[in-house]
Amino acid sequence: MNLRASLFVLYLMAKGVMSAPSLYTTQSCRNLTISVTASANNLDLPPFPNDTSRAAFGKYVRSFDPSVLNTKKVDGTFNIAATYCEPLIDVPGRENTIQFLLHGLAYTKEYWNALEYPDSSYPGEYSWTHHANSQGYATLAIDNLGDGESDRPDPIAIVQKPFQEAVILEIFKNIRSQNYACIPKKYENIILVTHSYGAMLGRMIAINHQDSVTGPNAYIQTASSSDLKGIAALGPNLRPQAASVVNPSRFSELPPAYLHVDPVTLRETVYGLAGEYDSRMLARDESMPHTFAVGELISRNSNDPSNFSGPVMYITGMHDAVVCDPNSNITLATVDCTIGKDGNPGLTALKFPNAKPFVTYVPAATGHNANLHYSAGEVFGAAHEFLEAAGF
Ligand SMILES: *[C@@H]1O[C@H](CO)[C@@H](O)[C@H](O)[C@H]1NC(C)=O
Ligand SMILES: *[C@@H]1O[C@H](CO)[C@@H](O)[C@H](O)[C@H]1NC(C)=O
Ligand SMILES: *[C@@H]1O[C@H](CO)[C@@H](O)[C@H](O)[C@H]1NC(C)=O
Ligand SMILES: *[C@@H]1O[C@H](CO)[C@@H](O)[C@H](O)[C@H]1NC(C)=O
Repeated sequence: MNLRASLFVLYLMAKGVMSAPSLYTTQSCRNLTISVTASANNLDLPPFPNDTSRAAFGKYVRSFDPSVLNTKKVDGTFNIAATYCEPLIDVPGRENTIQFLLHGLAYTKEYWNALEYPDSSYPGEYSWTHHANSQGYATLAIDNLGDGESDRPDPIAIVQKPFQEAVILEIFKNIRSQNYACIPKKYENIILVTHSYGAMLGRMIAINHQDSVTGPNAYIQTASSSDLKGIAALGPNLRPQAASVVNPSRFSELPPAYLHVDPVTLRETVYGLAGEYDSRMLARDESMPHTFAVGELISRNSNDPSNFSGPVMYITGMHDAVVCDPNSNITLATVDCTIGKDGNPGLTALKFPNAKPFVTYVPAATGHNANLHYSAGEVFGAAHEFLEAAGF
């Protein structure tokens, strides 16, 4: 154990948080499966061809214009996998507050717990959940519909943003009314914490459900902005191909419209510069599955302002190529997300004119996977100072 870890352990012991020298064993987490019934108006997308080649995705998205498609009502009941963690200490005023954690495209709920990377010298270093739990917040991280251990229904007709939004709002409703036996507490306040694609869903919720009765009470959107400069280049950069072909031992049953990212593309798209992250974390990330459903990427995104009047924070790394570089590639340009209201992500303030407060934070030496760089502790600290200042 290094000095920093030892001091942290001593600090926790002094606060009565732990007695054994392993933070992981003191994390009070369990995996749950939640059954969710929802309905939504998805786009009526054309069928995906029976084609598992690398060219299939690009050919499909170029074959129609989503803005002229009709919508179609879809409904269903699906299993959502989640990790629920109770706080490690009681902080008065936080008993009824839960952080709802939503991962990005091609990731899973494990993003919020350092990809479950076993970090023996400083456990918790890259874990948002660990940080939140140690500050007295409960957390619920879900595998979004179509991802991780959640159900993977029709990747064209069902797994689209409107239906994912409906699933999330249904879970909010049931958390607030303590309807799940596996979550034996009532949480009135929901803080929606998102990463990347999760933040696109966050924007959608902020536009469609700007009250804090159906929507969340506060937002922390990470690795995002209302102006995603690299989003068009990201798709081709990731070189997606049918998951059944890329990883047949695990995904042979999935239809061709479930795609898998080429792992070697992660370094240049979602990490910062060499030296800003631990290469063992990147290796861990590259060894994990990275699937998504084609329907997740096709939608009529609104860039309208939200009248949401609660607290909103955007945290985007200074070297986030997906948000700030049209090439979405860290080696092609000097990626520079800047601070201030005219910079990206600060300009997102225009989309939350009523937010109180609207705050942006741009950690230096940080790429798109903001939790997985050496700056993680700084990011977690900034987010939780924001929450405390906002009264949570
Ligand atoms: C929850 O499930 C994930 C994915 O299978 C696993 O990595 C993790 O260790 C599990 N966590 C707990 C607390 O059981
Ligand atoms: C899709 O193509 C594969 C390989 O050519 C074939 O084996 C399979 O039967 C086809 N599936 C459908 C639904 O047409
Ligand atoms: C990023 O750019 C470099 C230099 O042009 C190129 O070799 C590499 O393939 C690109 N990476 C991705 C993931 O597109
Ligand atoms: C926000 O409020 C303004 C003024 O009342 C209204 O015109 C606008 O439609 C509202 N926005 C949304 C997304 O409801």
